[in-house]
Amino acid sequence: MSDYESLKSLCERRRSYRQFIPDDALSADEVQKILDLAAHSPFASGRKNWKIAVVTDKAVISALARQVREDAQALAQKMEEEPAGFFLNYARSFTFFEDAPALFIPYCRESATMKSLLRESATQDILQWDRDNLTKSLSCVAMLILLAAESLNLGACYMTGPLLAGKSLNRVLSLPENTLLGAIVPVGHKKD
Ligand SMILES: Cc1cc2nc3c(=O)[nH]c(=O)nc-3n(C[C@H](O)[C@H](O)[C@H](O)COP(=O)(O)O)c2cc1C
Repeated sequence: MSDYESLKSLCERRRSYRQFIPDDALSADEVQKILDLAAHSPFASGRKNWKIAVVTDKAVISALARQVREDAQALAQKMEEEPAGFFLNYARSFTFFEDAPALFIPYCRESATMKSLLRESATQDILQWDRDNLTKSLSCVAMLILLAAESLNLGACYMTGPLLAGKSLNRVLSLPENTLLGAIVPVGHKKD
């Protein structure tokens, strides 16, 4: 099979997996293989200033899910009853990562290059562009995690819903306040 054909078949096979075999941890080899592949991700400005947190501690995973639920509830309280119900139903898809044996979380330090270059003349648009470069870069990393997982026949799902909890997640993960999380990617052995 050519490189193109094998990549095509991998991409065609990949689906978001949300159910994992319970208590079936990834092997150290599986984790390392995913990290090794994701390490080849492109990154804006060419600086490899990102990392991937691999979370396997059940207590931390549950604490993350709890935080997301709490923050979703707090947002819902600011809504009218009907949209709040709709939103909370939707937000249920932000916490299923709780059942995964491992979370891969690409992150980087929030830098404000343009703010320091432009100082007072930095516009909201240019600051947004600067930040978007970071999130887009982290998206590339997340995509490679998905493909690496699929190549190992592991289930995974790209998730940004949980990031509504923002900086609170940094605290749960014991990461510095100025950390920017790109996604939460639960990975586990496929249930079906
Ligand atoms: C930026 C982004 C954020 C996503 N966030 C979530 C999420 O929070 N929860 C979830 O269950 N799926 C999430 N997904 C997965 C999408 O629902 C899924 O990719 C889409 O339905 C297509 O299905 P497929 O991945 O099986 O092809 C996200 C996907 C993307 C690209």
